[in-house]
Amino acid sequence: MARALVPGSFDPVTNGHLDIIGRAAAMFESVQVAISRNASKTPLFTLEERKQMLVEVCSNWPNVTIEAFDGLLVEYAHRSGAGVIVKGLRAVSDFEYELQMALMNRRLCAGVETVFLMTGADYSYLSSSIVKEIARLGGSVEGLVPNSVGQRLQQKLPAECGARERRIAGAR
Ligand code: PNS
Repeated sequence: MARALVPGSFDPVTNGHLDIIGRAAAMFESVQVAISRNASKTPLFTLEERKQMLVEVCSNWPNVTIEAFDGLLVEYAHRSGAGVIVKGLRAVSDFEYELQMALMNRRLCAGVETVFLMTGADYSYLSSSIVKEIARLGGSVEGLVPNSVGQRLQQKLPAECGARERRIAGAR
């Protein structure tokens, strides 16, 4: 199984995602990061922005490519010639949902296996949602996302970030 997919919404990519992508890149001949268009969620970043951020931060891994996909993940994996889906597991709370998806994906396409990598210890509490909330409320996301992603978050959410700084300044 030389080719693996690392799927996700990546809205935006975090250092936790990069830990998983980098470790997958060391294990598989080629890794395709598969960005879900995810019609059921309203992302902060457009698909093109999410892809650009991933291309920038994954450029050090020559065997990693970035693509977007629609529809069922296993069908996309099958079409792409990937026999493995790699996912990160952070906490017990992830397990039930991930088990359900892995079993359903195997039922849909038995030829595609799901492999779980335990999260890096520093990232067990990290998610794109919490990063967006911190950025929205003006907190620092340093160390949680690559610097280039932090800058994009600031560009996307300047009003809210500025509002917090003004509140703090006003309270002094
Ligand atoms: O980063 P996320 O939002 O947790 O990623 C979830 C993702 C994209 C991996 C998941 O929603 C997915 O696989 N979507 C594709 C649609 C699909 O195949 N659904 C059936 C899963 S059993």
